[in-house]
Amino acid sequence: MKAKQFTRQDFQTAADYIAQHTRHRPKIGLVLGSGFGEFADSIQDADIIPYADIPHFPRSTVEGHKGRLVIGLLEAREVLVMQGRVHFYEGFTMEEVTFPVRVMRAFGIQTLLLTNAAGGLNPDFRAGDIMMIEDQINLLGIVGANPLMGPNDPALGPRFLDMSTPFDRELRQLALRVAQEIGLPLRRGVYVGLSGPAFETPAEVRMLRHLGADATGMSTTNEVLAARHGGMRVLAFSGITNEAIDHIDSPRVTSHEEVLETGKVLVPRMVALLRGILRRWDEVAL
Ligand code: HPA
Repeated sequence: MKAKQFTRQDFQTAADYIAQHTRHRPKIGLVLGSGFGEFADSIQDADIIPYADIPHFPRSTVEGHKGRLVIGLLEAREVLVMQGRVHFYEGFTMEEVTFPVRVMRAFGIQTLLLTNAAGGLNPDFRAGDIMMIEDQINLLGIVGANPLMGPNDPALGPRFLDMSTPFDRELRQLALRVAQEIGLPLRRGVYVGLSGPAFETPAEVRMLRHLGADATGMSTTNEVLAARHGGMRVLAFSGITNEAIDHIDSPRVTSHEEVLETGKVLVPRMVALLRGILRRWDEVAL
């Protein structure tokens, strides 16, 4: 059966619903991945909209993902925050996974800041590190499960999308300055997006390293594609929640509990970085 194709009208209907339920008109969107959701609780003058109330909006089923929009002020700047996202492995189509990004675009969001929990592939990385994503490998997309497949609405973006600079150069430079200012040793690297939900086998971990990836996770790459398709600027960070296991018979295992547990250590670091970026937002020509 062919999956439902959302139209521009569907994105607009959802965006209009959001506009009717908040006083704010942010231009910055933030997606808080596994473990990072609680940052949204510190938003001031917050208007909260459960995903369940928004027309067509997909609802997360995963522990650690709250499933609501929090719209308000962070560092005196208007932001729209997605407290939790949905994933392909939950059974959502790529269209559903990227629906929120399309809606944010229709609502007026111009810049997207993405966060995720990821496994460290780079042997130098440690659990608790933060990696700025400089480039991505959309492993699912390049073999056929790409959210931009299907009829293209030219009003939303081009049929053949340039992806030569997926992550905004100016925003990356700002992030590096902020990291230095707050004394955060920011890692940099390539994120590879897989479907999950199983964690990788040791052979898969070694394969992903050979492909040139430094961190791996089950989200983000699709959102980046939809955002770039809509002409949004993107900056993304991975919280390294675990070091990927690269040999069989390792005494270690990978678990969602470990991901959420390390997420707690990562939260203050990620929050300091995101706050610093918002504080110095004026340095970016928009
Ligand atoms: N692999 C894939 N996704 C992840 C991991 C991992 O090791 N850790 C957190 N998300």
